[in-house]
Amino acid sequence: MSLSQKMEHLNVKPADGKLGIMVVGLGAVSTTFIAGVFSVRKGLAKPVGAMTQYDKIRVGKGEDKKYLSYGEIVPLAKLDDIVFGAWDVYPANAYQAAMYAEVLKEKDINQVRDELEAIVPMKAAFDKNYVKRLDGDNVKDCKTRWEMVEQLRDDIRRFKADNNCQRIVVIWAASTEIYVPVYEPVHGTLASLEQAMKDNDTVHVAPSMCYAYAALAEGVPFIMGAPNTTVDIPAMWEMAEKTRMPISGKDFKTGQTLVKSGFAPIISTRCLGLNGWFSTNILGNRDGLVLDEPANFHTKEVSKLSTLESILQADKHPDLYKDYFHKVCINYYPPRNDNKEGWDNIDIFGWMGYPMQVKINFLCRDSILAAPLLLDLCLLSDLAARAGRFGIQRFLSFFFKSPMHDYANDEVPVNHLFQQYVMLKNAIREMGGYEPDEEID
Ligand SMILES: NC(=O)c1ccc[n+]([C@@H]2O[C@H](COP(=O)([O-])OP(=O)(O)OC[C@H]3O[C@@H](n4cnc5c(N)ncnc54)[C@H](O)[C@@H]3O)[C@@H](O)[C@H]2O)c1
Repeated sequence: MSLSQKMEHLNVKPADGKLGIMVVGLGAVSTTFIAGVFSVRKGLAKPVGAMTQYDKIRVGKGEDKKYLSYGEIVPLAKLDDIVFGAWDVYPANAYQAAMYAEVLKEKDINQVRDELEAIVPMKAAFDKNYVKRLDGDNVKDCKTRWEMVEQLRDDIRRFKADNNCQRIVVIWAASTEIYVPVYEPVHGTLASLEQAMKDNDTVHVAPSMCYAYAALAEGVPFIMGAPNTTVDIPAMWEMAEKTRMPISGKDFKTGQTLVKSGFAPIISTRCLGLNGWFSTNILGNRDGLVLDEPANFHTKEVSKLSTLESILQADKHPDLYKDYFHKVCINYYPPRNDNKEGWDNIDIFGWMGYPMQVKINFLCRDSILAAPLLLDLCLLSDLAARAGRFGIQRFLSFFFKSPMHDYANDEVPVNHLFQQYVMLKNAIREMGGYEPDEEID
């Protein structure tokens, strides 16, 4: 049976026609992602780090065992079929924004200059109270949050029609907003969230919630790449169920937290103890500038701190993980721009309680690590929608620092990198009509 016959049988729609990827925020991460896709399309670069382009999953066992790429198991959109759109607070086109970000070398940006110049950001749904350090004027004029939603819905419809897209995905790669704690009277139900938007409750309804709501209302999957509360509220889960659309988040897991979620399992598997984990970073891009504002950093801090709790469980092993000290800092340091440096000092203990230390020094490139995640998340969210999966997409937890989970029903998120990988592989297997399993390879 061919893949398309099999998919018809499994009710997974084909990836025909153009896929519009509409990115909120045209900054360092987005322009690196977009320029990379254009370069790969022209044969000028390789999509290193993108699992949808490289990873192979074993399907079948024993004599039936074979290793297939994602695209051989399920129908994925092709890079050639992607059309990009964006919103930003600043009017700079994607070429100017990529030059400003200084992540990629000028020679690499220039090779795809025409394609990048064609991407001119639409006016942002923005509220300066949520990101005090930004001062752009490419901003929608809206009397209420509800009007923000309506204008964003118009943008999505227009973009889809103008570009002849079959399907759209919206991904947030814009600045981190200030911390919005979950407020039950507004965030608890879809009806109360909609009412708050109509009443223009600017305290509890962040602009990012308007993007998410607008996307779902237009039948479009939404991905939250920053640590914002946006989709982590029951009202948004209800909206995703109602519209039967996938949502996922939050906070791309790129550098230090990727290492953390991969290294913590070494400690837990070996039943070693932990006294403390101190993580600090220096970062000099615009993201670093925004995160230098305490209210915006707090959003990131909450997301970054959540990683260890479900891997090193104090309630299961009080001898090993009771009262460990976990601290995360981000320091704005302009000379390094996007080339973040992270230090981790891990105070562990072993046999009879004797202390030891592990030091990790990661000299990474923030947007270079993030770009392939955006590609994977967009392609897999589009796949999920075509496969009829809706609501919280737990199989995408692998890609996030603080994976979405139904905390209202005490669901514990999965942060363990290798458990997340099993969840990812099994979802792909299931959508492809193969048996899920728990084996390591
Ligand atoms: N690079 C990484 O490794 C990484 C990892 C996890 C999360 N993130 C998050 O991804 C986001 C983007 O990071 P970046 O380095 O590209 O930042 P950036 O500052 O370069 O780009 C963000 C862009 O978003 C725009 N923006 C802000 N609010 C907006 C709104 N309401 N609507 C439209 N545009 C808006 C800004 O004008 C800016 O151009 C940040 O929230 C960051 O915390 C990045």
